Amino acid sequence: MKIAVLPGDGIGPEIVAQAVRVLERLRADGLAIEMEHAPIGGAGYDASGDPLPDATLALAQAADAVLLGAVGGPQYDTLDRPLRPERGLLRIRKALNLFANLRPALLYPELAGASTLKPEVVSGLDIMIVRELTGDIYFGQPRGIHVNEQGEREGFNTMRYSESEIRRIGHVAFQIAQKRNKKLCSVDKANVLECTEFWKEIMIDVAKAYPDVELSHMYVDNAAMQLVRAPKQFDVIVTGNIFGDILSDEASMLTGSIGMLPSASLDQANKGLYEPCHGSAPDIAGRNIANPLATILSVAMMLRYTFGLEDAALRVEHAVKRVLAQGYRTADIAEAGMEKVSTSGMGDAVLAAM
Ligand code: NAI
Ligand code: MG
Repeated sequence: MKIAVLPGDGIGPEIVAQAVRVLERLRADGLAIEMEHAPIGGAGYDASGDPLPDATLALAQAADAVLLGAVGGPQYDTLDRPLRPERGLLRIRKALNLFANLRPALLYPELAGASTLKPEVVSGLDIMIVRELTGDIYFGQPRGIHVNEQGEREGFNTMRYSESEIRRIGHVAFQIAQKRNKKLCSVDKANVLECTEFWKEIMIDVAKAYPDVELSHMYVDNAAMQLVRAPKQFDVIVTGNIFGDILSDEASMLTGSIGMLPSASLDQANKGLYEPCHGSAPDIAGRNIANPLATILSVAMMLRYTFGLEDAALRVEHAVKRVLAQGYRTADIAEAGMEKVSTSGMGDAVLAAM
């Protein structure tokens, strides 16, 4: 199992170091794990003037999975756009053809107080959002800002999806639903947008291969509303790039704790890039106080989705549940009066629980 480790910027190196300890522990217990580090984002720019150095991309392409921290920081905000750290992340996602973005929104009972919603609305929440990541209005041509025939300036983008793009994300979502509660909700705006009317038609066709999964459809505006009204009605949601961008942020924030949320981005062969949902948190970088659990939980997703090691994935997830139950809290998830542990202290606790 070849893993490219790309810590990135800000808190990236600190949180990734704890996730690497988890991988080292699994290796000590018999998994054939190989890790190699490389710079990305601002660290890539600092090392070689490029937020995605050639050697980093080559390492990621040769690996089975990529573990990424986060990129970005105020010191890079004045760089030309192509040199900015975030561009390195977009480029690696595109280069690795990571079309399936999986973002679980899971509320740990111990952290129920962190949500802004009432406990009865979110307790037991366990949703998986499957977002298409390489198509849709974010990539569709034509696009731009120009002067139109009436002589007025206008901006325009194009929402488009090919049948094959919809089918492949559909299969990913149905297979995930099969392994969970066999409920899949496809989110569209088929009443207004032909592109998503087509999406819905193809999803209905893909569903024929998964008779055990119950497929439902919802308009995106209603889905946004239902996610805050009664989020537990959902199990797996599949949607396009732009709706998924918005709904996955909304869903993940139902849990209230950004330091807890992992993500996976997969290609056709389940090679993947795994990273926490949060950014590089420059405001707390270098102080050993960031929460490493989102990154550690990203390792669990890697074990599950790229390597098919469900037992190892559960071992990591159970260790995280255990440390929460034991009362270990980094500052971002500590309630008033609770004792706080450091980034490495949380790593120690997870290793002990493993
Ligand atoms: P952010 O997610 O880095 O931080 C938002 C807030 O959450 C901050 O107060 C931060 O301290 C806190 N936070 C985030 N992760 C935490 C953790 N693990 N433990 C404890 N607290 C945590 O988002 P922000 O501030 O909007 O962006 C900062 C930089 O990160 C920017 O340069 C941005 O472009 C970049 N970014 C990178 C992403 C990525 O690499 N995937 C995603 C989002 C932002
Ligand atoms: Mg977003």
